[in-house]
Amino acid sequence: MDNGFDHIKWFRDASPFINSHRQKTFLLYLGSQALQSENLANIIRDIALLNSLGIKLVIVHGWAGLLQQSRASIQDNAWSKFLDAIIVPEILDSCINLISGTQGRLLAQLSAGTPNSSMYRSDLVVTTGNFIRARPKGIINGIDHHHSGRVRKINRTALTQQLDNPAIVLISPIGYSLTGETFILDPRDLAAEVAAVLKADKLIFFVANDGLMDDQSKLISEIMSNELTADLNATEQPILHAARRAIEQGVERCHLIGFKRDGALLQELFTREGSGTQVVRHSSIRVRQATAGDIPGIIALIEPLEQAGYLVKRSRELLESEVDHFTIIEQSGVVVSCAAIYPYQDMAELACLATHADYRDRELGDLLLEAVTNQVRMKAIKKMFVLTTQTDHWFIERGFSAESLDSLPENKRAYYNYQRNSKLLTKVL
Ligand SMILES: CC(C)(COP(=O)(O)OP(=O)(O)OC[C@H]1O[C@@H](n2cnc3c(N)ncnc32)[C@H](O)[C@@H]1OP(=O)(O)O)[C@@H](O)C(=O)NCCC(=O)NCCS
Repeated sequence: MDNGFDHIKWFRDASPFINSHRQKTFLLYLGSQALQSENLANIIRDIALLNSLGIKLVIVHGWAGLLQQSRASIQDNAWSKFLDAIIVPEILDSCINLISGTQGRLLAQLSAGTPNSSMYRSDLVVTTGNFIRARPKGIINGIDHHHSGRVRKINRTALTQQLDNPAIVLISPIGYSLTGETFILDPRDLAAEVAAVLKADKLIFFVANDGLMDDQSKLISEIMSNELTADLNATEQPILHAARRAIEQGVERCHLIGFKRDGALLQELFTREGSGTQVVRHSSIRVRQATAGDIPGIIALIEPLEQAGYLVKRSRELLESEVDHFTIIEQSGVVVSCAAIYPYQDMAELACLATHADYRDRELGDLLLEAVTNQVRMKAIKKMFVLTTQTDHWFIERGFSAESLDSLPENKRAYYNYQRNSKLLTKVL
């Protein structure tokens, strides 16, 4: 019987992601196809939900695909220039009107607040403004690009002030020059540049497929930015180009997610499996010392293992006082593996070694064991021990061997839990 527990479990599983995303800056790119998608209303609702979870959001929108609707009123010569990304003076007003209209519609949708939507009772504020200075592309290979421009400067201070307000910032692909002229910008490049200037944590592109597909049409869930080559089976080359540039300029990661699928944005951001493709500079796995901010993530990881009897129960207070002993592996900002080291004179205890069930058998346990072993060596301690009930073979296969409890450091032996009856395994380093 569905008593709503699936939802509760989902909500609990999402909590490490909610904690990790709070106060982070995400830039969302909505191209013209996404803007025309039937799923746009759901995307907008989910954007409002992200805002209510304390995520700082910038939206950059496209427009060019929408100009097709005005094709009949545009002369052939101007249209063929437009197809070459050249905005001639004759169509500048149409472009400006189209972009302003798109901005206005997005503002209206972001301002809706009907009951049963994530926007109900939210005090969502959306800001627009002249954050972008532009310059003309000029004459390239003898061809005048007229009102097609490039980003000259982005007003970072004004943008961050708005985001701290907190407001969602909506940016249209129009920039103004110091001479007061208007230039139309490529929205994908604009998204990449704004994300880089803000040092955004994520740049999210909505694309027609679920993400990037490999030769067998299977979704690629993670790819390094230097693998985003032109021969990739992708119709979204300008987006890939922008993603690569953003990563090179310091954006943590880019995501390509499907605009057609309801919930794809939330699935990508709040579940371990995600829904699309994540573009990273390096492998997104990181081994590091834990900090207080990791405690919710560590709790989410170890609680089910405590309940199943693999690990000894630790209270939140104990974790808070002992978090310095922990080393974690995080993937995409989420704690997926952890272990703690407690030195006792000439020995060190390895405790609370755990890998999340979804991430097992990828040698994360080995990676963590190696990292904590190095830490113990650095302290000039020559022997490590572990007390385990169900995982002795894992340790034995990694050079540990069983010993009698007499070998335990005295102050540890005093607290040995005979009911738990753990085995003692040691390893000389
Ligand atoms: C033990 C644990 C940390 C390993 O994490 P991991 O990231 O999957 O580790 P690795 O990928 O490096 O190792 C996986 C290998 O260990 C094996 N393994 C996993 N649990 C094992 C166990 N209890 N006994 C023996 N081998 C085990 C897997 O089958 C796999 O073997 P394979 O490579 O031959 O397929 C993880 O299984 C876990 O969290 N277990 C529950 C918590 C626990 O018991 N912790 C120890 C407390 S002292």
